[in-house]
Parts: sequence; C-alpha cells; structure tokens
Amino acid sequence: MRILGIESSCDETSAAVVELADGSDQAKLLSVVTSSSVDLLAAYGGVVPEIAARSHIESILPVIDQALDEAFPNTPPSGRWHKIDAIAVTYGAGLGGSLLVGVMTARTLAITFNKPLYGINHVEAHIYANFITEAAHELADNYHLPPNPPLFPMLGLIVSGGHSQLVIWRDHFDYRLLGQTLDDAIGEAFDKVAKINGLPYPGGPKLEKLAPSGNPHAFEFPKAKVAGTYNYSFSGPKTAVLRTAQQLIGEGHDFPSYKLAERLSEAQKADIAASFVRTAIETVVDKTMHAFDEFQPKTVVIGGGVAASRELRRQLADRLPISIEYQDIKLMTDNGAMVATLGCFKMRNGQPAADPYALAIAPNLTM
Ligand code: KG4
Ligand code: ZN
Repeated sequence: MRILGIESSCDETSAAVVELADGSDQAKLLSVVTSSSVDLLAAYGGVVPEIAARSHIESILPVIDQALDEAFPNTPPSGRWHKIDAIAVTYGAGLGGSLLVGVMTARTLAITFNKPLYGINHVEAHIYANFITEAAHELADNYHLPPNPPLFPMLGLIVSGGHSQLVIWRDHFDYRLLGQTLDDAIGEAFDKVAKINGLPYPGGPKLEKLAPSGNPHAFEFPKAKVAGTYNYSFSGPKTAVLRTAQQLIGEGHDFPSYKLAERLSEAQKADIAASFVRTAIETVVDKTMHAFDEFQPKTVVIGGGVAASRELRRQLADRLPISIEYQDIKLMTDNGAMVATLGCFKMRNGQPAADPYALAIAPNLTM
C-alpha cells in the first residue's frame, strides 16, 4: 500500500509518499519534499497566519509534484497516480488558512483521481513518524532511521512549537491522552525565552545552543503546579524568566521585554538559557517518568521539533530504564511523511475514510 501525505498546518508545506507492506509495522519512506516559510516569517519574529497561508498556496502543487516525481522516477507523470492507493491530509490542529490549503488540495486530488481520502490528526501523526524504519535506496543515506518500529504499549511524548502532550497507546487507534500543557507549548516557551535573550525566531535551537555555556542552577525558575497528574504549564516559568531578567538589570515589571536583551550581559543570558532549559525539560521528563512507572510501556517515542534538544535526550537517558530510538529530526519536525504513515495504518486497520466532498478543517482538534 502506498499513500501520498500532505501537511500544511503551520509554516511547512510538505508532501511525501510512504509504503506499508501487509502484516508489517515498518513503514518505508519513498519521498518527502518540504518547503518552509520560516525564513520569510523570521522577519516578523514568528508565524503570521496570512503569510503562511499564502506561502502554502504557492508551494503546494510543486511540492506534491516533486514528491511524486521522486517516489516514482521511472514512471511518466501520467502513470504516477496509478501507484498511489490513497491520499492522507492533516485536517487539524493548526492555523485555519494554512489547513484549508492542504485540505482543499487533497479533496480536489481525491475526487479527480478517485482515491480514498484520510483526514489526519497532526499530533497523532508526529508520533506515527516513529514507524518509518526504512527508506528508498536513494534516500537511505540522508536519513538516520530507527531500526525497529515501536511496540505497544507505547508512550508518546509530543514536544513541538504548537503542541505538548503525553499519550499512551495500547494498540493502533486505541489511545488515551494523559495530559498536556494548559497554556504555551514547550517549543513556544523556548522561543519566547529566546526572544527575551535577543535570539531571532525560531529561537528554541539557539537557546539550547547557548545553554551549555551558562549555569543551569543559577536561577530556580518554578515548575508550575497545575490540576491533573500529567498536565503542565509553561506560562509561569516564562513569566519568571521575564521577572528575573528585569530584576537583573535593576528595572521594574513594566520594563518592556524586547529591550531586555541589550541590557543583559552575555553571562546573564547564558545563565537564563541554562536554567530555563533545564527546568522546562525537567517539567516534561518528570511527567514522562510518572507515566512510565504507571503504564510500563514497551516503547517510549518522541515527536516534534523540541525532540532535537540535547538536554531532553540527556535527561531521558539518565532517568528512563529503557533506551529510546530517536527518529531522524527531519521526520520529527512537521512533514508529509508522518501524515502519509498514519494514513497507511488507518487504511490497513479499516479506519473510516473521509468524504472528499465534505472533509472540513478542525483548527482546534484535540486528541
Ligand atoms: O515540530 P516543529 O517543527 O513545529 C511545530 O509543529 O510546532 O517544532 C518547532 C519548535 C520551535 O518552537 C523550535 O524552537 C523548537 O521546536 N526547537 C527546539 C530545538 N529545535 C527546534 N527547541 C529546543 N531545542 C532544540 N534543539
Ligand atoms: Zn507539528
């Protein structure tokens, strides 16, 4: 079975072809093509929904075309659609205008080429990226894939710019959301603290790079206490960073955050980065450990851009009694391959297909 996956929920336009053999949980990547508007958006310090949506409109057809071209290089364009069994598309959660571009494109293609259409939950897809364990010959050198697919029960931690969730799967399509952030996603909090430090968007990776040169115990930013064993919050720690920075330069609470960076010393910035990164990562790792003890999963998997964090990997390795097989980071950030992979499992497990004349976007879709 081969599925074309389409992703356009935020600032990446991406399409991919993934193959799943009968009776196997090892998905094979045939192609993935991603066009990002992140450089365009950097000038604005974050995602501007209108700009992201326009950029999807410009990119989506060339991206799909190239994904098919790379998956089936020896097949003429007219024959490529015969090799696709279904189309999968992210219909939520995400930005309304961005989701619409992907969903309307997928609906049109499904009707035109008479293919089943699967609506995909973006957050579930982040976890399903971990089932990609093989790649077509031409791609194999570019991807460092886990050797084996995850086993159930599977504990999934999603840590991205838009989502932070902890989920337990007993089997395919049998899962329970344990908890999530009640305010900012972890990546969003990284990006905001990076901004206080004067680092350009998306600042998360730059903040992480700065952290090792500071003292992770210079400041004790509080871990928020919230309702629900597995829920957490990042708005409290983020405000604590703001207050600490204001105090360090001898200013009050009304001192604007965008002016802090020019007054903080390099050493102070490094200490803020180190202390915040440690606390934010501890917050999600504490919950992951708690869930591990309660549910005794066979596998722990991670999805989302913050999975690139060395501090996250270090803390998990220190505390979990089992090791984690990390997916290649290119498949952990937003991409069409994770969407195609979940589509394959949906089709194989007899999950209902969507009506291509009716599939609607769901910007606030939850798990
Ligand atoms: O999964 P992703 O590409 O997009 C969303 O679905 O949001 O995640 C992007 C987020 C950004 O907030 C970015 O700052 C963060 O992931 N990020 C990192 C690192 N690399 C990316 N955060 C911490 N450490 C990193 N190394
Ligand atoms: Zn995402």
